Formats: sequence, C-alpha cells, structure tokens
Amino acid sequence: MIDIAGFQVEEKIYESVRSVVYRAKQIEGDRPVILKTLKDEYPDPQEILRYRREYETTRHLNVAGIPQPIGLQRVSNRLVLITEDIGGQDLKKLLKTHTFTLRQLLKMAVDTVRILGEIHAANLIHGDIKPSNIVFNSQTNHLQIIDFGSSRTLSGAVPVGETQMLAGTLSYMSPEQTGRMNRPVDWRTDLYSLGAALYELFTGNLPFETTDALELVHAHIARLPMMPSELDAEVPVGLSDIIMKLLSKNPEDRYQSTRGIEADLSECLERLKTTGRINPFPSGPAGRIRQISGIPQTGWPAKRTRYPGGSLRPCQPGWERNDVRCRSDRDRKNRSRSRSR
Ligand SMILES: Nc1ncnc2c1ncn2[C@@H]1O[C@H](COP(=O)(O)OP(=O)(O)O)[C@@H](O)[C@H]1O
Ligand SMILES: [Mg+2]
Repeated sequence: MIDIAGFQVEEKIYESVRSVVYRAKQIEGDRPVILKTLKDEYPDPQEILRYRREYETTRHLNVAGIPQPIGLQRVSNRLVLITEDIGGQDLKKLLKTHTFTLRQLLKMAVDTVRILGEIHAANLIHGDIKPSNIVFNSQTNHLQIIDFGSSRTLSGAVPVGETQMLAGTLSYMSPEQTGRMNRPVDWRTDLYSLGAALYELFTGNLPFETTDALELVHAHIARLPMMPSELDAEVPVGLSDIIMKLLSKNPEDRYQSTRGIEADLSECLERLKTTGRINPFPSGPAGRIRQISGIPQTGWPAKRTRYPGGSLRPCQPGWERNDVRCRSDRDRKNRSRSRSR
C-alpha cells in the first residue's frame, strides 16, 4: 500500500504492469478519493507525461461526467494522481459479476454518449474509450468516463504521420488510429471505439476477439465484425444497426457527432419503455442501412436478462463466469470459428 500524507488508503482496486489504483479517504473533509500511481520507482518519461497530461487536461475540463481531479502529488519518486470517487466499478469488471437488463444497458450507453459529447464539445478527443474506462455505481446509477492519459485536443485533425500519438487500446482502436490508414485522426475515432465498447456491452464479445496485434490491426482496417444481432439473437436489430454504423471503417460513414447517436439510442430506450420492443428505425440513419442492404426488419422481444460475462444463459453453480457453457449457441459457434482461424 502507498503512504500519502492526508489520505487514508483503504483498498487496492487495480494493478497492471505499469500502474496501481487505490480507493482512499481524504482525511480533511472525509472525502472518498481514487489514487492512481505508477508502479515503477523510475518510470518511463512517457508514462510521467501521461499522468501530467491527464491531470492538466481534466483540471481545465468543465464536464460533470468525469472524475474531478483533486491533485497530482509526488510521493518519494512516484507521481500520484488524486481524483474524486463516485464509488463505482469499471464496466469491464462489472459485466463479469453483475446482471443487467437491456434497458439498464441502454441507459448506460446513452449516459456514456452524452458525456463523450461533452468531452468533444470541450475540444478534446478521449483516445481510449472502452468499458474499463467507464465507471458505474449501480446503487446511484452514476456513470463517468475516466482515464484521459491518451487524450488530445481537437484543434483540427491530428495530421497524418502523427496518428501514433494517440495511444489507445488495440481491441477498440479505429482504423485511422492504428496509423496504417494514412488518414488524419479526429473526434470520430472515439465514435468507432464507442462502437466497439457498445458491441462488448451488449454481446459480451469484442468485435474482433483475437489478441494478435497484427491480426487486430488488419481486422479493424479490413474485416467486418459479425452483426451484434447475428451473434446474439436477443440484441435488437435497431440497436445492432447503430453499433455497426459506429464501427464503419471510414469516419464519414459513422455518425458524425454524438448528438445523432444519443438521439437514436434514446429512441431505442423510449421504444423499449413504451412498446417493450425495439423495431429497426425505418427512417433513421441506422434504419436506412438496413433498407439499403435489404436485411429484413423485424422486432425483438425486449424483456431479457443478461447474465455475467454478457451471456444470455444463467451460469450454473460450479461453472466459471466466462465458461463457454454460459454463452449462447451462436456465440459459442462464433468463438470456435475465430479460434480455428
Ligand atoms: N474513479 C474510478 N472508479 C473506479 N475505478 C477506477 C477509477 N479510476 C480508475 N479505476 C480502476 O483502475 C483502472 C485503471 O485506471 P485508469 O485511470 O484507466 O488507468 P490506466 O491508464 O492504467 O488504464 C480502471 O480500469 C478501473 O478499474
Ligand atoms: Mg484505463
């Protein structure tokens, strides 16, 4: 555990090769806080830069849906980033242990998009949107986007050749952000990553499940992911279309701002509340794709429960949370197909 004056450290909530995150109390004011620190006593200057960037960026960002920064302190040789704590857990972890209804997941998606819109309106690209960078308190329903270590200001596009500046995470990375497209990177890179994050939220799978870096880059650039509604028949087609539109290879084919996504996802939520179903949109952007591609438009029953690991089947006692037996048949088929590739 870390020893930092003025704070009482309570528990370690995350550890990776490079950082450790603790939950703590600021003694003055008895305020719950998050302490994020680099593990290495002599860290890479790039890592120090990430911490400074995160602190400086969030300090000047007037957005309610992000953790308010409290300070950046040097403790021995280490930098500690101190932020407010809403008592949440990141969505990657939460999905493995909690069951959410489609309506709850949609509400989370709408909140995430709204906050991302505020980040973009503040002239910033987040650069690393993914479920482990979204925290949610299931008691208060409070949601925040965290981790601004890969963020960049949105003063025009990032020029071609500087695309690698946006680090991000490969499984959620837009084709242009991989640096292999010879295209500038702008705010629409976050919309692709959002699509990958929503894909995982609603199906329990990544758009491309491989962990091989080269294969992932190739997949983001050239392969079409299976439609969420094909992978999991209980994902409504209207919602599946929205996710696929976000995952378009060309930024021009995605939604052009968070406003359109928020409107379509809110419409899904509204239809679910009032009719219990989400029929595909006949005239909205997502619906147009279906009409053009000639895919039949059907409605789906709305009431269903998602089990830990994103599965639609309950896990039996003794089965592991991500046990393949907890997943749908189609899901299993898909996984074994990608394994055999
Ligand atoms: N405010 C927070 N609330 C809950 N968990 C958090 C919070 N901040 C960080 N974490 C946990 O720590 C992990 C790493 O923090 P993050 O800021 O994303 O750092 P990194 O740059 O190492 O990814 C998150 O994925 C999450 O599990
Ligand atoms: Mg992170």
